Amino acid sequence: MNPQEMAEAMEKIRNNVKSIKHKILVMSGKGGVGKSTVAVNLALALADEGFRTGLMDIDLHGPNVARMVGLKKQPEVIENQIFPPEVLPNLKVISISSFVEDDAPVVWRGPMKTTAIYQFLGDVAWGELDFLIIDSPPGTGDEPLTALQTLSDIMALVVTTPQAVAVQDVKRAINLVKTMHRTPLGIVENMSYMKCPNCGEVIKLFGEGGGKDLENLFDIPLLGSLPFDPALVGFSDIGKSIVTHMRGSELEAAYRETVKEIVQRVKL
Ligand SMILES: Nc1ncnc2c1ncn2[C@@H]1O[C@H](COP(=O)(O)OP(=O)(O)OP(=O)(O)O)[C@@H](O)[C@H]1O
Ligand SMILES: [Mg+2]
Repeated sequence: MNPQEMAEAMEKIRNNVKSIKHKILVMSGKGGVGKSTVAVNLALALADEGFRTGLMDIDLHGPNVARMVGLKKQPEVIENQIFPPEVLPNLKVISISSFVEDDAPVVWRGPMKTTAIYQFLGDVAWGELDFLIIDSPPGTGDEPLTALQTLSDIMALVVTTPQAVAVQDVKRAINLVKTMHRTPLGIVENMSYMKCPNCGEVIKLFGEGGGKDLENLFDIPLLGSLPFDPALVGFSDIGKSIVTHMRGSELEAAYRETVKEIVQRVKL
């Protein structure tokens, strides 16, 4: 993109996202900690509570959101605008997986990734939203970088597990957010513990303290600690969510609490 095209793309994005109140980037320096699960269930919980919500998958190499959310419908393209399908009356979803074949290796080079994200932000008819939740791939590469650069009011929700190795990687992600002068909304510690289904004993699968350590180190609030629940794995694979299909579980309660914290904080 030459400087002129770049300026036009930025102008288009600014206009297109101005009716979106809160933009939240779900990120982590670490892979497999539950970013996509958190992004999907956060979006579903917000939609369930009446907020107009968008969910955008910018994990261009490993897009999982569509499957996790049970998305069957395709986006419609009308006169250069992409209309995102709704999985619930309040929830619009856009994922790169709608534009590529299942199982095909997705080959992207840096500038292509940036252009795809510009399109998601500039060409998708999001309309008026209370929240746009953006799921990103692990690390601090082109995708989270582009989202952070492009949206000046974006807030980062950082997902970690309790483990020291995860914390090490997550520190890099938080430092990126700080270096770019963006707002860290908070930390979510996932897979904090598991309760034995037979005896109820609490098992610390991945050690403990990671979320608290990050909170103390960076002075960023720990917004929630989510238990590991083996039932979730099967549900995620078939597009059933925690907030709709695991009602009454400790995991659902922990998600609801986390969402409450988020809603309170963005209203400050
Ligand atoms: N609280 C939980 N209890 C049980 N399983 C979980 C929990 N959170 C996530 N998982 C499972 O862990 C796996 C990884 O989760 P997910 O795909 O959301 O992680 P990710 O951080 O998005 O991974 P990637 O870095 O590959 O994008 C999935 O199989 C998911 O179902
Ligand atoms: Mg993911």
